[in-house]
Amino acid sequence: MEQALRKIWIVDFGSQYTQLITRKTRELGYSSAIMTLDEVQELLKEGKKPGCLVLSGGPDSLSTDKTDYGFLFNLGVPTLGICYGLQIMANYFGGKVAPGTIGEYGHADIHLTNGFKLDHCPENFQVWMSHFDHVEKVPEGFTLIMESHNGMVAGIRDKDRGMMGLQFHPEVEHSNFGKEILNYFYEEVAKLDEDWDRNEMLKEATDLVKKVGDKKVLCAFSGGVDSLVAATIAHEVIGDNLYCFFVDHGLLRPQDHIHIETLKKETPLNIEIIDAKEAFLSKLKGVSDPEEKRKIIGHTFIEVFEEKVHLFENDHGVKFEYLLQGTLYPDVIESTSPHKKGGKSVTIKSHHNVGGLPERMKLELLEPLRYLFKDEGRKIGEELGLRHEWVYRHPFPGPGIGIRVLGELFDDSIRKVGESDQILFEELHAFNVYESVAQAFTVLLPVKTVGVKGDGRAYEEVICLRLVSTTDYMTATWSDLPREFLSRVSNRITNEVKGVTRVVYDITSKPPGTIEWE
Ligand code: XMP
Repeated sequence: MEQALRKIWIVDFGSQYTQLITRKTRELGYSSAIMTLDEVQELLKEGKKPGCLVLSGGPDSLSTDKTDYGFLFNLGVPTLGICYGLQIMANYFGGKVAPGTIGEYGHADIHLTNGFKLDHCPENFQVWMSHFDHVEKVPEGFTLIMESHNGMVAGIRDKDRGMMGLQFHPEVEHSNFGKEILNYFYEEVAKLDEDWDRNEMLKEATDLVKKVGDKKVLCAFSGGVDSLVAATIAHEVIGDNLYCFFVDHGLLRPQDHIHIETLKKETPLNIEIIDAKEAFLSKLKGVSDPEEKRKIIGHTFIEVFEEKVHLFENDHGVKFEYLLQGTLYPDVIESTSPHKKGGKSVTIKSHHNVGGLPERMKLELLEPLRYLFKDEGRKIGEELGLRHEWVYRHPFPGPGIGIRVLGELFDDSIRKVGESDQILFEELHAFNVYESVAQAFTVLLPVKTVGVKGDGRAYEEVICLRLVSTTDYMTATWSDLPREFLSRVSNRITNEVKGVTRVVYDITSKPPGTIEWE
């Protein structure tokens, strides 16, 4: 389904949670697309119109943002304002928005007011807030339907005009009954019919591949679930016109080598493994800044890839015209929103796996998963008959161990992380907890610590274990795993990995910590 034809347009004002609105909206059975204000204006000019609008939260304040948002409210379509979206709505309809004397961040208790009732929802419950400005006066025609325990406006509604506003974030997991509240808006206020069919996902992805006809397609293959599912879909459509190139940058874990060899043997994909360890590691010598390391890895990846592809084209007399990538919807939003399209989301880290290659190589991009979330890609993978352990493999970042050895990379530090990670991986399986965490890895800290090994003093390095639970990778909590498991991993690492005396456990959530350490 074309983006503009999706029923619900989610207008991005820059909240870190905008994608979660789409996620929840799909779970409720409605199609939606995230758009910047510029994109909305372009589509309106083309005469297109949504079934309803959702205005996201965002970092701006109406004390400085003087934009006229009238064009959104004059469309005559039902509209839900969330956080900043609520403030824009209240302000437009003649209410008053003012800076608070206190902010509300994190959990907040709210209650339903003025006789407002929601199915399956008690009168008092907890939600997730993140705001300083607040609605001081409810606009005429609107009813206050939810209030926070601080006496602040939490929800307003004007059913006749199809308008509703929420000061909290119903889209985040921490908001109890958030999904029910969104559903209430779509069903009762906007009066939409469900239109998102899960089976459509595979069909849409397949249709995207059909456009290549009998042209040759190149895939930057990582072996992760996204590129594996994308490649499998493409292979079903175009067969051996698909060529998968896997770059070994020398920053892989032992399990990654085994995995890629298994895929080469057990799937029908044409997988070409490029050994480029030397090129990467020589360029990373002496570099300790994390962003610098990411950039070098990203650029070297492009150089190596381009060179090998040209050699391959010459040797085999083929010409590639498309580049297949396992890009997912969150990557699309993260990489296009801040810079290219006038969106407002903030870049936290530069990911190297989106963009870069096509312009230089004159290849057209093919991204069959570009409108899907990770778990939707996984479902498709299962439907395609891929092995469960491949589909539920934890994600591994493009820069690999390169961002898990903090500071400068040395052969010996790469070895320490590789060996520790292998132990962690083995024990996750032995304790049958691999799938109860979303991602698990070890990080080598750039400090030395005193220990005692045998009868002697040791002065060696520290490994940190990072295990997180998350579904969307945007927010995460540290995983609370059995003590016996942690103890076993720690014991094995300090005994088996030469040069490591101490193991620590990271108990930081995201935010404020990111999942990776660099
Ligand atoms: P952060 O550290 O941003 O990680 O909380 C969120 C998810 O993204 C992965 N990650 C990356 N993946 N290239 C990638 O392909 C990168 O540069 C990169 N940095 C982080 C991280 O492993 C986690 O799954």
